Amino acid sequence: MKYTFKNLSEAPSKGAAVYFARQNNQEEALLDAQGKLADEATDRQLSRAIKAADFKAAAASTLELIAPHGLKLDAIIIVGLGKVTELNEDALTDIGANAFGAAQKISERVNFVVGHESIEVDPILMGAALRGYKWDKYQTVKKVTKGRANEIHVYSDNQAADKAAWDSKQHVAEGVLYARDLINEPSNELNPETYAQRLREFSKIGIEVELLGEKELTKLGFGSLLSVGQGSAYESHVVVMQYNGGDKNDAPIALVGKGVTFDTGGISIKPSAGMGDMKGDMGGSAAVVGAIRALAARKAKVNVVCVVGLVENMPSSTATKPGDVVTSLSGQTIENLNTDAEGRLVLADILWYTQERFNPKVMLNAATLTGAIVVALGVHYGGFFTNDETLVAKMKTAGDQVGEPIWQMPLHKFYDKKIDTPNADVKNMADRWGGAIYAAQFLQRFVNDTPWVHVDLAGTIMGADKTPTNQGWASAYGVRLFERFISEYEKD
Ligand code: BES
Ligand code: MN
Ligand code: ZN
Repeated sequence: MKYTFKNLSEAPSKGAAVYFARQNNQEEALLDAQGKLADEATDRQLSRAIKAADFKAAAASTLELIAPHGLKLDAIIIVGLGKVTELNEDALTDIGANAFGAAQKISERVNFVVGHESIEVDPILMGAALRGYKWDKYQTVKKVTKGRANEIHVYSDNQAADKAAWDSKQHVAEGVLYARDLINEPSNELNPETYAQRLREFSKIGIEVELLGEKELTKLGFGSLLSVGQGSAYESHVVVMQYNGGDKNDAPIALVGKGVTFDTGGISIKPSAGMGDMKGDMGGSAAVVGAIRALAARKAKVNVVCVVGLVENMPSSTATKPGDVVTSLSGQTIENLNTDAEGRLVLADILWYTQERFNPKVMLNAATLTGAIVVALGVHYGGFFTNDETLVAKMKTAGDQVGEPIWQMPLHKFYDKKIDTPNADVKNMADRWGGAIYAAQFLQRFVNDTPWVHVDLAGTIMGADKTPTNQGWASAYGVRLFERFISEYEKD
């Protein structure tokens, strides 16, 4: 996508133009000064359309006028701001997304004419950039002919500031799109080997990348993670990425991600229906990878380390079997009673490794860990668990701001008892109820006193309902949440 920033005095003359209308207390749509000029130029087509369609300018609602009279534009899109007092970043993102969605169906060139001073441009562009995402890599005949806008022009009173803000925020949007590509990629293309190799390219944006293959992992003692990948033809990998934009002696913030490139369930094999979705079981890793990529690309003043565990969970004669006991990197032994509860075995080792090696000031992990979190929260909230109550408000605020909300779930020692077993130090499942909590409680056994947050994104990162900012399968929910949370730690 190409972006240009112009002054309001130059009205757009090509493509589709977006004008903003707010809603007053009588629920009437009111065009801004720029919209009024367009209304005059079209012999009142805008106000007539508003009336004819009973358009009330509700937040993120749109009204389309094709080939407006008297102008060379392909279309005018009027987008509702709702009540201006209710506008916030999340709302503006949806407004930008829906306006762009309507405009890109008609034209390859989308113009935003931002007449309201109170409107921030970067959330609008964030919405547009996310809405513009397409996954059509494997369509040999591209089915979508419209919907390929490749130019966005912003007209505002603040062009220099708007450009500067977007120059930075654009990297965050790209982090999301990068993560969506990873999640959408089928598992025959994205396996633990090809995924690890892909991440090498991050060295180009100032991230130090280290690949640990099975030889190194065996030597280091990643017995839990390796037991998940041992049935696969692909070699398991751990990838360690470091970005140091902060003070030299400042402890990093750690991001840890579950990267199961395909989860068949292993010997405890899953039913066939819907199994294809399990190509997205590396979503947690994609979310943290997208976040560190965004932070590095926008040169955030913060130190971040990102560790992902890349494995494929397959049934085979070499696969782990229910009842097997493995020794984790922490030294704790784990009885594997269900090989489909594999994500926690991957995270156990990389959480331990990350805290021992980097001593981070905060450690966040992301995972598509349980179906139970989807039962609990549906597809609109991610679930999070933490051992540090001071992080609760920070995480919730970051999620609410960017429109990736998360809801706190409990950790408690009474849940802990049910993952005890006579056969090892811990087992990887409890009983039928509260499955997301038992998974989190298991992870906590591999976290010492590092402030830690586990985010279960199984319901939100893929296969969720369509939203203004995501019309496809992979949302990459979490990238913006983590990026925003970490940005609060940037030094001034
Ligand atoms: N990858 C799945 C969880 C999942 C389910 C992610 C649906 C996305 C959508 C995970 O590895 C898994 O299979 N969990 C089991 C755990 C159970 C066997 C204790 C589950 O949730 O059923
Ligand atoms: Mn599983
Ligand atoms: Zn899984």
